[in-house]
Amino acid sequence: MNRLKDKVAIITGGANGIGLATAKRFLREGAKVMIVDNNTTALKKATEELASPHLQHCRADVSQKADVEKYVDATLSAFGNIDVFFNNAGIEGAVSPIATYPEDEFDRVMAVNVKGVWLGCQCVIPKMRPGGSVIITSSVAGLRGFANLGAYAVSKHAEVGIMRVAAVENADRKIRVNSIHPGPVETQMMRHIEGKLGGDAPDKAKDGFESQIPFGRYALAEEIADLVLFLSCDESKYITGNTHVIDGGMHV
Ligand code: NAI
Repeated sequence: MNRLKDKVAIITGGANGIGLATAKRFLREGAKVMIVDNNTTALKKATEELASPHLQHCRADVSQKADVEKYVDATLSAFGNIDVFFNNAGIEGAVSPIATYPEDEFDRVMAVNVKGVWLGCQCVIPKMRPGGSVIITSSVAGLRGFANLGAYAVSKHAEVGIMRVAAVENADRKIRVNSIHPGPVETQMMRHIEGKLGGDAPDKAKDGFESQIPFGRYALAEEIADLVLFLSCDESKYITGNTHVIDGGMHV
């Protein structure tokens, strides 16, 4: 309890999955939290579920600079400061090899996963208090090749580049920047990927993934939130510029 007491956190993609689980965890640890998402219905549902006086929400598309500036302004108006930035919103896009990958899907994935994370770093970090922490949600697909995950894997590699540059640029203000690299997590995104890979038999796609994980199961979103919490609080104050894999041993 209280590992984030009086800290202000922004969580993009905060209305579902890993972002929502992290919002819950942060509130329990005493943080003031702004959840940002482009899905109005999910934002409303998440706000009701979290039911906290220390929670605010902002509808914004992370790939649009005006929207990014809007969520920064909304956070500063509501809470006065920013200490933690969980730069997490992302989409999976089409499932296809590079040879046949649709160009419009490539552009859509890059806009959210790369430009969205980039704009977040550009607009949020200068407004953060010294000593703050930025966590970017990449993926195991950001560290190795994944057939058929085309633009997603490319975008997740690019996020590592953003993390490394932002870490060295902000070290003088003692703002640390790290990326996390989950394997499959029990969220709607994996349901989408299983559906795209498995067609009529998404369970087979899930079995295929689980057979590659030594722990034999997907992560829970709450388990990812535990790592995000560690990287957000003072216990990790000397850790920056690093990639943190959380995958049940999938890539040992
Ligand atoms: P999710 O689909 O449950 O949640 C993602 C949230 O981001 C949704 O609420 C969605 O509305 C929001 N979002 C999407 N595009 C947006 C935009 N342009 N602007 C604002 N919000 C937007 O997915 P999940 O699994 O929680 O994913 C979170 C992050 O974790 C993503 O970056 C994803 O790539 C990454 N990740 C997920 C893994 C998994 O197995 N679920 C594994 C590794 C990484």
